[in-house]
Amino acid sequence: MLKEIMEQPQALEKTLHQDRRKFTDIALDILRAGQVIFTACGTSRYAALVGRYLFAKVGRKFSDVVIASEFGYFADAVDKNTVVIAVSQSGETADVVEGVKLARDAGAKIISIVNRPNSMLADMSHHTIHLNCGPEIGVAATKTFLSQLAVFYLLTFSMINSFGKARIQLRDMYSKVAEALDCNNDRLNKLSHKLRDKNDFYYLARGINFAIASEGALKLKEISYVHAEGMPAGELKHGTLALIEPGIPVITICPTDYTYNETLNNAVEAKSRGAYIIAISDKESDIYDFWIKIPQVDELLYPMIAVVPLQLLAYHMAVARGYDPDKPR
Ligand code: F6R
Repeated sequence: MLKEIMEQPQALEKTLHQDRRKFTDIALDILRAGQVIFTACGTSRYAALVGRYLFAKVGRKFSDVVIASEFGYFADAVDKNTVVIAVSQSGETADVVEGVKLARDAGAKIISIVNRPNSMLADMSHHTIHLNCGPEIGVAATKTFLSQLAVFYLLTFSMINSFGKARIQLRDMYSKVAEALDCNNDRLNKLSHKLRDKNDFYYLARGINFAIASEGALKLKEISYVHAEGMPAGELKHGTLALIEPGIPVITICPTDYTYNETLNNAVEAKSRGAYIIAISDKESDIYDFWIKIPQVDELLYPMIAVVPLQLLAYHMAVARGYDPDKPR
């Protein structure tokens, strides 16, 4: 897992070898569609959620993300004017394959985003985008998540005829991802030893970063066996705030983008109840008890940088608690 976390700059580089014309064709299909539905599970679903925000913000195209195991309950609304984007690193996840079968039968156009070109999903799709980032050996998905995000940037910017511009911006991310890894690895190792006996973690973020809060929580649960919840920060007050007690770690993703001020306000609410605020940001603040510094990037690219320290945190927490991250339960 650690190897795959660390090789993300190289994985990203490989993912950017994509065919501009293919992306343009797929982007046109998406723009023309009556409705666009992403379907996926787990980490791939969180990548799809970032895609959804990008489609809305840049492509002005509304879409929805349906959990693959729930897809069948919505299948009556799928028709030939629907584009279904199936996201799955393996291309073999049974729930995703089942959903796609239903969608195909209803006449939908299927686009799959996979890391295995010879997978079931690829065979069932009208178009397949290959992540091309090398096989993922670790059980916990890390580098494929970053590659999925990169594919969504390329696809979204293809909607506004800017594939080339997006690829140039993404190339700048190799060094930024490497920086986020290098400057946080040792510090997160130390932090994990301090937090290893904590039983509950809450992850907060807004807008395009919200999915990263959920992904951070998933990684922690999956390999460290600690209760963790990720949520849109604005939902904190609807129940969860009542659970915040002194010393509870609250991980706040608050880069200086369009979500910054409001997310910071939510961190203040948690802090006033005694939470230990761990912030992922490019800007320091007195509110933070522990600052995870990330480099400044374009505001739509923060999800790619913010997820990296959360992967490291989950890894180090697992090790600090005496578990093998490569052999989760
Ligand atoms: C999390 C993880 C799983 C997968 C999920 C979907 O680290 O690995 O939650 O994301 O099983 O798998 P794929 O993407 O292969 O469909």
